[in-house]
Amino acid sequence: MSYYLTTPIYYVNGEPHLGHVYTTVAADVLARHMRQRGEDVFFLTGTDEHGEPVAQAAERQGVTPRELADKNAERFRRVAERVNATNDFFIRTSDPEHGAVVAEVVTRLKDNGFVYEGTYEGWYCPRCADFKTDAELLEGDRCAIHLIVLEKEKEDNWFFRLSAFQEKLEQLYAEQPEFVGPPERHNEALAFIKSGLRDFSLSRARISWGVPVPWDPEQVVYVWVDALFNYYSALSYAREGEDLTERYWPASVHLIAKDILKFHAVFWPALLMAAGLELPRRVFSHGYLLMDEHKMSKSLGNVLDPFEVMDVYGTDALRYYLLREVAFGQDGSISPEGFEKRYTTELANEYGNLASRTLAMIGRYRDGRIPQAEPPAELGEAFEGLAESVASCLDRVEVSAALEQIWRRVRALNRFVQDHEPWKLAKQEGTEAELDQILYGVAEGLRVVSVLVLPWMPDTAERLLTALGSEDRSLHCARLGAHRGGTPVSELGQLFPRIEPPVEAA
Ligand code: MSP
Repeated sequence: MSYYLTTPIYYVNGEPHLGHVYTTVAADVLARHMRQRGEDVFFLTGTDEHGEPVAQAAERQGVTPRELADKNAERFRRVAERVNATNDFFIRTSDPEHGAVVAEVVTRLKDNGFVYEGTYEGWYCPRCADFKTDAELLEGDRCAIHLIVLEKEKEDNWFFRLSAFQEKLEQLYAEQPEFVGPPERHNEALAFIKSGLRDFSLSRARISWGVPVPWDPEQVVYVWVDALFNYYSALSYAREGEDLTERYWPASVHLIAKDILKFHAVFWPALLMAAGLELPRRVFSHGYLLMDEHKMSKSLGNVLDPFEVMDVYGTDALRYYLLREVAFGQDGSISPEGFEKRYTTELANEYGNLASRTLAMIGRYRDGRIPQAEPPAELGEAFEGLAESVASCLDRVEVSAALEQIWRRVRALNRFVQDHEPWKLAKQEGTEAELDQILYGVAEGLRVVSVLVLPWMPDTAERLLTALGSEDRSLHCARLGAHRGGTPVSELGQLFPRIEPPVEAA
């Protein structure tokens, strides 16, 4: 089956920070896991380059929007590479191919009768690229997100008839309660719909950095409409000479954070219905990464530089930490101290030591070959149904719950070794068969948790699987006893070396 997965496309008005990395890594975990299941995966990320957020940032920095976009798009591309994201394409909305698709779909929206000329009068936040109602403003006419003072705007532009989709959207939410997840976000989006949908401006007259409206080139397409259609346009030109739309559309999951829920859960399905296109199966919103209780964001300046963190701890440790510390779907605080703690206790001690200990014992007691035996019943029970439960968590986009399932087994393996003390058995007579079984069981357990944890820590798990002499990476083999013993093990350096000094908050 095809599995098409997207991240939001990030604004190039700033540099990537850990908040962006969080979504990209979570999406990458899903993509890698689905590939292990043999699904036909397409994973898209990229940058959102048009509109006021970028035009104004460029002006402040005294460069052209194009220059700013080129510079920062490159940074987003590099950070995706650096976190080991396996995206199949990196879209930039300034790609001419994307612009052509946007022009074509907005024309279709108009031909289908959902676009009309009107006058917008009201508040607009250029940093959110969003229209605001009186009720949404803070005292002093300020944007509640960016805290900047807004001006009332009046301009003639083209409107999208969102109000025409009131009933259809309510019906969608009733028939497909899974369309938006988790349930809190479903409820939030539904409440927004039920409060009464108002048409919104589909074009902007004041700026020129964008896709020209085909029938009125003095205006550009509203940046959110331009941006949302990236999910559709990318498939038409990601592979030269090939159109992947048939193969992957509609998207399986759009991964976002709750800041952009309204656009994905309300505007997007309405735009697709208006254009006569199929709707995505799922929009899943995770929560915010917080630093000192505040959302990590460029405007607040409380951001961690992902490159710095990875220089110190390595990519896998960062991927693990982000998805372990914060329950996926909820807000959660991260901190250098929290990172340090999990690195030492969970990665270095629980996983790293288990691995080196196991390989050392196989080396010492069994000449470096995993013994042949049946899996110990105790471990068999602990591992029963594990791969299925990880898979079903990830079907529901519960990325941290899936990791918790795996980690419980890492701990079970440690307890098993502790309880059975193979080093004592090795010194006794007549315990060969028992020791064989214990060492085989632990090696198998390590192999299974490593296959399962590959999507979170691809390099580390790969190294360990190689040291265990195991070649299969598919989910089929993530079952205790799926591999027989007899395989020679090889040298494994330290998986998680001691780190000092700790990272400082940027
Ligand atoms: N360009 C729009 C998205 C268009 S999608 C068609 C945009 N860009 S953004 O650069 O502001 O990125 C917002 C996204 O970055 C969030 O939805 C989330 O995925 C990620 N995050 C940014 N800061 C974050 C946190 N502090 N915590 C969690 N996610 C964060 O909005």
